[in-house]
Amino acid sequence: MPWFPIGEFGPVMKGLIIGLLGIIHVYLAQFAIGSGMLLLYFETRGRDRDDRLYRTFVDGFFKYLVLVSFVLGAVTGVGMWLTAIQVSPRTIGAMVSEFQWIWATAWTFFCLAIVAGYAFYRVAARLDDRGRRTLLVMYVAASWGGLFWINGILSWQLTPGDWPATRSMWDGFFNPGFWPSLGFRTISAAATAALAACIAINLMPTLSTEDRRTLVNRSAHLLAPMALMPIFGIWYFATMPEDSRSWVLGGSPAMTLFLALAGGSSALIGGYAVFGLLRRKLYINGATATLLCLLAFGATAGAEFVREGVRKPYTVRGFMYSNGLTQEQAEQARREGAVKDDPYPLRDAKDYPNAQLRRGAKVYRRLCASCHTWDGANGIDHLASGWSVEQRRINFAKLQMTKPFMPSFAGDAADVEALVQLSAWRRAGRPTTWGVSEDAGVMAEISADLNEAGVLPIFRGAAK
Ligand code: HEC
Repeated sequence: MPWFPIGEFGPVMKGLIIGLLGIIHVYLAQFAIGSGMLLLYFETRGRDRDDRLYRTFVDGFFKYLVLVSFVLGAVTGVGMWLTAIQVSPRTIGAMVSEFQWIWATAWTFFCLAIVAGYAFYRVAARLDDRGRRTLLVMYVAASWGGLFWINGILSWQLTPGDWPATRSMWDGFFNPGFWPSLGFRTISAAATAALAACIAINLMPTLSTEDRRTLVNRSAHLLAPMALMPIFGIWYFATMPEDSRSWVLGGSPAMTLFLALAGGSSALIGGYAVFGLLRRKLYINGATATLLCLLAFGATAGAEFVREGVRKPYTVRGFMYSNGLTQEQAEQARREGAVKDDPYPLRDAKDYPNAQLRRGAKVYRRLCASCHTWDGANGIDHLASGWSVEQRRINFAKLQMTKPFMPSFAGDAADVEALVQLSAWRRAGRPTTWGVSEDAGVMAEISADLNEAGVLPIFRGAAK
């Protein structure tokens, strides 16, 4: 089993770092993909009426697109990789090795999108209609194609379908969540771009009010597909594993709230689009457009949070727990201990009064730090603050029963006790001396609890 150095970002939870960066990146990517669609739509359908106006807009908007998506999108995309490999190197390793060719294909598409986009940016003004359209079609196909390929890998994490049994790349790629999430993301992309376009239209200095109204109303056409969102949402929901679905439906209040936030914001935007923009042909000024964009950002954030959240306690269902271990590795750690081979030193080793507490710190780093901090977000100090030492022993040993979002405790009885002592020492105010706990009776009780809890089966009888 390979060991990787793992970064910590306390007091912020690691998941929040990835989540925040991920949400910004997803939003920018949606903007980039949807903007391509919008511009192609304007270029092909709008020109019948007012050639000059549409061309001014398409060329003007493309500058924003290049600036925002090629610069910020690229920076956050690379940032995702940099943080993700520090937080969950094994998961990223699995994603890369299972889908090597898919990644390579996706990157080829990104590359084409950037070349086509940049070419359009530099020379579109000098090209004839056919040349402009060809570049835009290339840009749209390539950027949406990038989504197509990445979407399969992301949806595989939650709904791997037959993959755990067959280990076939295509089974993993065209998994049950693939089509609904592709549909959902495509509609979100179009809607994001339409709203962003309304801001851009308000920022373009040379346009008259009448021109602005024409463009805003035309942009709103890309909000119309939002009417299909509930269908894709419900379809996606139906493909989710039973337990994940139950968390959204009340098992985890935070997730239920986030889903409600996402659904509610989308419904508000959709309602405004249909009644205000499409039927009554209202004009949106810059401030309103910005507000709607922020609402859409909230919807994206809520949806991504839920998608990440419901996957617990796995990073890849049927294959890997959230702490980066497979079932086999977790069972091995039960027999041999969680951190016996951990080659990495503790950064604050000298702060602990004895070796047992240092072991506890390594166990925490290995088994808990992917989802918890000690005293910051989702801090164990707070969560367990009212628990007696005996309660800690039982609840850590039976971790998957304490809360179903958590994987089983992947270590032996001495690991549990080391962690219990560490949390008790922290609660006592980190005194400079602390006794070692090695009572044989206590160890036997912890062993019994570990055995009773067993190791959560990772593979729940999927097909074949
Ligand atoms: C997959 C992510 C994940 C991992 C790994 C994980 N936890 Fe948790 N844990 C959670 C979540 C989510 C909660 C629920 C927090 C809440 O209810 O607000 C939780 C709750 C808890 C609680 C409070 C339980 C209660 O009933 O109130 C404690 C204590 C705890 N975890 C300790 C640990 C320890 C110790 C480890 C490592 C051995 C660990 N957790 C590993 C996600 C995780």
